[in-house]
Amino acid sequence: MQTVLVTGARGQIGSELIPALQERSEVETVVATDIEEPEAESGPTEKIDVRDKEAFATALEEYDVDTVFHLAAILSAKGENHPQLAFEVNIEGFHNVLEAGRQHGLERLVVPSSIAVFGPETPTDPGEMTTLAPRTIYGISKVFGEHMGNYYNWNFGLDVRGVRLPGIISHKTLPGGGTTDYAVEAFYDAIENGEYDYFVRDDTELPMMYMADAIDALIGIATAPRDSLEYPCSYNVGALSFTPKELTAAIQEHRPDFEAHYEPDERQEIADSWPDDIDDSAAREDWGWEHTYDLESMTADMLEHLEEKLG
Ligand code: NAD
Ligand code: SER
Repeated sequence: MQTVLVTGARGQIGSELIPALQERSEVETVVATDIEEPEAESGPTEKIDVRDKEAFATALEEYDVDTVFHLAAILSAKGENHPQLAFEVNIEGFHNVLEAGRQHGLERLVVPSSIAVFGPETPTDPGEMTTLAPRTIYGISKVFGEHMGNYYNWNFGLDVRGVRLPGIISHKTLPGGGTTDYAVEAFYDAIENGEYDYFVRDDTELPMMYMADAIDALIGIATAPRDSLEYPCSYNVGALSFTPKELTAAIQEHRPDFEAHYEPDERQEIADSWPDDIDDSAAREDWGWEHTYDLESMTADMLEHLEEKLG
């Protein structure tokens, strides 16, 4: 991991993964790419649409990239509003990344999967080898990504890896159109307006994770010894699970006047199709995954940073 290229650099995760990669001693260069010009604080940037295979392949050659973190994607809620776009970016775009990576001789390709691979038929507390029956184009694209990652591994020796991230909570960059965005928006609205209208019911429980832990998970899977990985493209990584009601109570510990309202919309159906919690024992055993933040420590840290940011 000397010369790394990140797609989707401007997004919620990319904007925090890039500085974390730049701090690592073995990393010399991080090339930040996105469909919009990235705003990297240091290091090269390129405006690349992952649907343009030639442009992506040219960047791999130009910078002699050895590792790619492929983050460019259309997330669940936006994907349901724009399924054709989600297909082009998440499925065709990922195929471009795989093919260009294979032709270039990439050493490693890290691509996050998601709890969106699961569906209503998935059993409670699913492990890795469970029923994957997604109802969203986003979830379907993530199942495709896991299987294609394994296929390129078996057939072409391309070292593809990934973890199934839960909903990510962070204060630097707003999320880009997912079903779990309410767990971030509630913090902003608690500070800016003193109230928030959740777009899911108060008892909707979903797996979530603070950004610092998500960065650890991505770098952890990227640097794990390959022979320790039984499920290289599909590890569950859990941290916390909570309902909007529990999140509201945690915020009220700091801001007692915060008021929550609940107006479920079409995203409720997506949330209901995902499990409340996941079994991540394989990641903990195989490559030492562990999380740091619980609901209380995450809430305190989010509020502290957002109070500073929003004034
Ligand atoms: P995001 O929506 O915040 O960012 C995605 C980025 O991709 C954006 O900057 C966007 O401009 C870029 N992009 C969109 N179309 C593109 C294209 N055609 N070419 C190049 N760039 C394009 O997403 P994120 O939250 O940072 O997610 C990163 C990855 O992590 C995705 O694969 C996502 O599925 C996965 N993930 C995220 C979460 C979460 O809660 N944030 C949870 C599970 C998995
Ligand atoms: N947070 C993401 C979403 O809601 C899960 O992959 O789409």
